[in-house]
Amino acid sequence: MADPITLPSYQLAATTLNDDISAPTVKKHEFSDRVMIRSIVSRPDGGAGLAGQRVRVGGWVKTGREQGKGSFAFLEVNDGSCPANLQVIVDATVADLGQLVQTGTSVSVEGLLKNPPEGTKQKIELRVEKVVDVGTVDPAKYPIPKTKLTLEFLRDRIHFRPRTNTISAVARIRNALAYATHTFFQEHGFLYIHTPIITTSDCEGAGEMFQVTTLINEAERVEKELIKNPPPSEADIEAAKLVVKEKGEAVSKLKSDKAGKEAITVAVAELTKAKENLVKVEERSKLKPGIPQKDGKIDYGQDFFSRQAFLTVSGQLQVETYACAVSNVYTFGPTFRAEHSHTSRHLAEFWMVEPEIAFADLKDDMNCAEAYVKFMCHWLLDKCFDDMEFMAKNYDKTCIDRLRMVASTPFERISYTEAVELLQDAVKEGKKFENAVEWGIDLASEHERYLTEVKFQKPVIVYNYPKGIKAFYMRVNDDLKTVAAMDVLVPKVGELIGGSQREERYDIIKERILEMGLPLEPYEWYLDLRRFGTVKHCGFGLGFERMILFATGIDNIRDVIPFPRYPGRADL
Ligand code: 4AD
Ligand code: MG
Repeated sequence: MADPITLPSYQLAATTLNDDISAPTVKKHEFSDRVMIRSIVSRPDGGAGLAGQRVRVGGWVKTGREQGKGSFAFLEVNDGSCPANLQVIVDATVADLGQLVQTGTSVSVEGLLKNPPEGTKQKIELRVEKVVDVGTVDPAKYPIPKTKLTLEFLRDRIHFRPRTNTISAVARIRNALAYATHTFFQEHGFLYIHTPIITTSDCEGAGEMFQVTTLINEAERVEKELIKNPPPSEADIEAAKLVVKEKGEAVSKLKSDKAGKEAITVAVAELTKAKENLVKVEERSKLKPGIPQKDGKIDYGQDFFSRQAFLTVSGQLQVETYACAVSNVYTFGPTFRAEHSHTSRHLAEFWMVEPEIAFADLKDDMNCAEAYVKFMCHWLLDKCFDDMEFMAKNYDKTCIDRLRMVASTPFERISYTEAVELLQDAVKEGKKFENAVEWGIDLASEHERYLTEVKFQKPVIVYNYPKGIKAFYMRVNDDLKTVAAMDVLVPKVGELIGGSQREERYDIIKERILEMGLPLEPYEWYLDLRRFGTVKHCGFGLGFERMILFATGIDNIRDVIPFPRYPGRADL
């Protein structure tokens, strides 16, 4: 039976720290020896009701200044649990103030919470009685000055990037959206399936995959080894063969001479050794520098997986095998694309949320996508309002209104054909696009943003795209010209979600694979889903970082992932 005392505390630890913000006393963190600053300053009363309580807090000094001719210091301390700092006051009799006031210093301090004098901004402050621990910084070397740093500059300063207000707020928002994602799908009866990172099939068929191979390091190893220890020559092999022959003859002679058992055993052992040596010499003689080739091509048979392998661009194909067995599933993991895009919307490594629903069509898919996006907007307004206020103040004053609007407004749904007509109407009215608009084109980001930001000013789902511009697995519509695809376009970002009803008819999907010039062999396992017990099904992929861009209003996708990877860049 579950332990009635420990169970609720685990739930608390796994959820948010403000669950008990109206409690009369503030509680220590369960797995650390201090109180989180959030549980003091994020209370509805700003912490005022906690005056008189003795607490220990830990965090990093955002700003510090000595006052009263060096008799005491004010420190603004932040521990990353919320955007707000706790004001901490330390007397010179308690600690060396010069060390404490430097930006970036870590402090663990104990003292009494007090109400500050009337008229000050803070509702509560900590009067330090004991400094438990200090992690000093050399101010000459610490790169966070009091002036604002650009997000681009921060990308090069990885150790303190998360200590900035912006990046820590993004981290909390990102965490909240991940939690919201699991909550939404779990509450709707979806199973979380872990799909592979290494794959041998190209889901999108667009050839933008990173290859996974050990052939290159293996070739380098062999090259080095051959320089150190050159391969045996023909003469070496002949010599080794000769030794085998001689040892063999010696054994035969001993046997015909009816020699003693012991002498024969010794001679046989020598023969075995000579044979082993010959095998080794022959093997080494075959070692060649460079990548192994067969019939003029790279021999992937000698690669780690005995075939060519890649990092996945999408977990969809694999997750479909589970949808076609346990009905409602989702995968949420890293995906990789080797596109040389230097845009503010593309990463080489990004996270994707991909649900897949059996016995469901394109309309169900759109309904699910819309409900999921709305759920995330509600969640942020509910759980991350302080961080959203920070974003509104510093990055995009419309971001909170945008979340409210998307959470409460039905998404517009238009067919691709209608979308093209609307864009052409706009051109007639004088709107200039860099990419010409005609039926059959892949909508460019400028077109998508026009539709969602200017024309409808809300999320737009465009469905039924020309089959020529979409992936092989999308279901061909009765007009034979379009496929049952849908993209969700949102203000600020453009394409947030791409999805479709899947082609469940064996003959047609096989034809589509061939039509796109893809090899059948890597998809045979996928075709089995259509050969055996095929079922109508659909799904979509939401770009997780694009959702964060949309929510926060931050401009560049590289700033909403902890460790961005893009062409020319993969630190750590
Ligand atoms: O439209 P995409 O390529 O769709 C798929 O991969 C499908 N297999 C999904 C499915 O049906 N299960 O990608 C889905 C989303 C895009 O709408 C976009 O938000 C995001 O993934 N995305 C990227 N995000 C960041 N960087 C990139 N390079 C991205 N490429 C796609
Ligand atoms: Mg897409």
